[in-house]
Amino acid sequence: MRRAAVVMIVGFVALVGWACRQGAVQAAKASPVERGKYLVTAMGCNDCHTPWKLGMKGPEPDMTRMLSGHPEGVQVGAAPSLAPPWGMAGSLTNTAWAGPWGVSFSANLTSDPETGIGAWDEAMFIAAMRSGQHLGGGRPILPPMPWPFTGKLTDEDLKAVFAYLKSVPPIRNKVPEPLQPSAPPSH
Ligand code: HEC
Repeated sequence: MRRAAVVMIVGFVALVGWACRQGAVQAAKASPVERGKYLVTAMGCNDCHTPWKLGMKGPEPDMTRMLSGHPEGVQVGAAPSLAPPWGMAGSLTNTAWAGPWGVSFSANLTSDPETGIGAWDEAMFIAAMRSGQHLGGGRPILPPMPWPFTGKLTDEDLKAVFAYLKSVPPIRNKVPEPLQPSAPPSH
């Protein structure tokens, strides 16, 4: 009786081990582009980098403009003044952000060479995501881009994200430069 129980437990452990190995084999089979698509989808890059439209169930990312950043046609004026504790505002497209840093605009992550990341190389992308510097060595990347967290991905995962972004159909859309915070009111 006891022996049968031991055999069953050993059998169960072996089965779980086999199932785990199968899972690992599946994951290893995913190409970098597939892995990158999975990461970009699950990490919510579309939430900020794909402009929102009003859909049947309310605001939602407009996937016909997938990852193309703040639409160049949507003009943004001076940041609204907010009474504390309110301190941040976002546009209806979820691509323009006002806060103490001024106004930031979500970047075009499609493969367009002029307005997207088509001309970037892998090293620049990894450096930008890790250092929080524009193009991997320029001005600080502004909020709400969560680079301190997305930059924690392994090199392999960041390479996969980049491979996927390079495969995203190009959309020509020139995102504006960030706006400086307005000068404090003089008294
Ligand atoms: C909460 C909103 C938000 C999320 C989520 C987000 N981003 Fe961003 N991202 C931004 C904003 C805003 C900017 C522009 C910041 C600036 O101009 O300084 C930006 C800029 C970038 C840039 C340009 C960096 C540079 O050198 O100027 C890259 C690349 C980027 N994001 C990749 C990603 C990826 C990949 C993901 C998902 C893993 C992601 N972002 C998720 C808001 C977001």
